[in-house]
Amino acid sequence: MPILQIEHLKKYYGKGQVCVKALDDVSLSVEKGEFVAIVGTSGSGKSTLLHMLGGLDRATEGKVIVDGNDIFAMNDENLTIFRRRSVGFVFQSYNLIPILNVYENIVLPIELDGASVDREYLDLLVSTLGLQEKIHQLPSSLSGGQQQRVAIARALATKPSIVLADEPTGNLDSRTSQEVLILLKQLSERFNQTIVMITHNEEIAQTADRIIRIEDGRMAGTDGTDAGVRS
Ligand SMILES: Nc1ncnc2c1ncn2[C@@H]1O[C@H](COP(=O)(O)OP(=O)(O)OP(=O)(O)O)[C@@H](O)[C@H]1O
Ligand SMILES: [Mg+2]
Repeated sequence: MPILQIEHLKKYYGKGQVCVKALDDVSLSVEKGEFVAIVGTSGSGKSTLLHMLGGLDRATEGKVIVDGNDIFAMNDENLTIFRRRSVGFVFQSYNLIPILNVYENIVLPIELDGASVDREYLDLLVSTLGLQEKIHQLPSSLSGGQQQRVAIARALATKPSIVLADEPTGNLDSRTSQEVLILLKQLSERFNQTIVMITHNEEIAQTADRIIRIEDGRMAGTDGTDAGVRS
């Protein structure tokens, strides 16, 4: 069974003359461990799609099923718990807590959930991301690429069903972007972690296992071995 199923997803903003169809009937499925890139021009609906997948906002119509859970069927409280436990977010801006050190930032989502830290997994995650030496430092003493690696570690810390990344390399230079992408790819392989990444950059998208194109809120085709598109 796919880890992520999107069925006839629609998101409309406004009504009548000013109605914007940000997502207009998107269907897609993603297998566990896949690293998928969603590519499209500005305003094509990429961030809207990611917000729906992470339960940050509710759809106008259609379903999102994550690891068997129909997320829009949940009430707000359960949706909040779902987000905390089952989704890891990575944004263009790293959104680290400035007064917490690297380790404290990474384990924050685990502690917010009242769960206990799997030290072995965490050590492996931190070493895969090359953050061992920085573990006691504050975010302000790190480079942009290092801060984004901390944000990625934080996103994976809870072993979420899906990691959602919106332009994760948007603030990084091209060399650092490549390093971060290689790490995302390694993480998806080593931990069988499903990652859905948004980008408007074709070169960056090529790192992924599969590329999904979106235009004006609609899927415009996919590259890769298994399209996974349903109608
Ligand atoms: N809260 C909102 N209210 C009204 N319209 C919105 C809202 N959020 C997004 N839109 C519209 O929905 C469309 C898709 O926006 P979205 O942010 O998903 O695009 P995007 O592909 O992420 O673009 P970018 O590459 O610039 O980040 C745009 O036309 C946008 O103006
Ligand atoms: Mg966007």
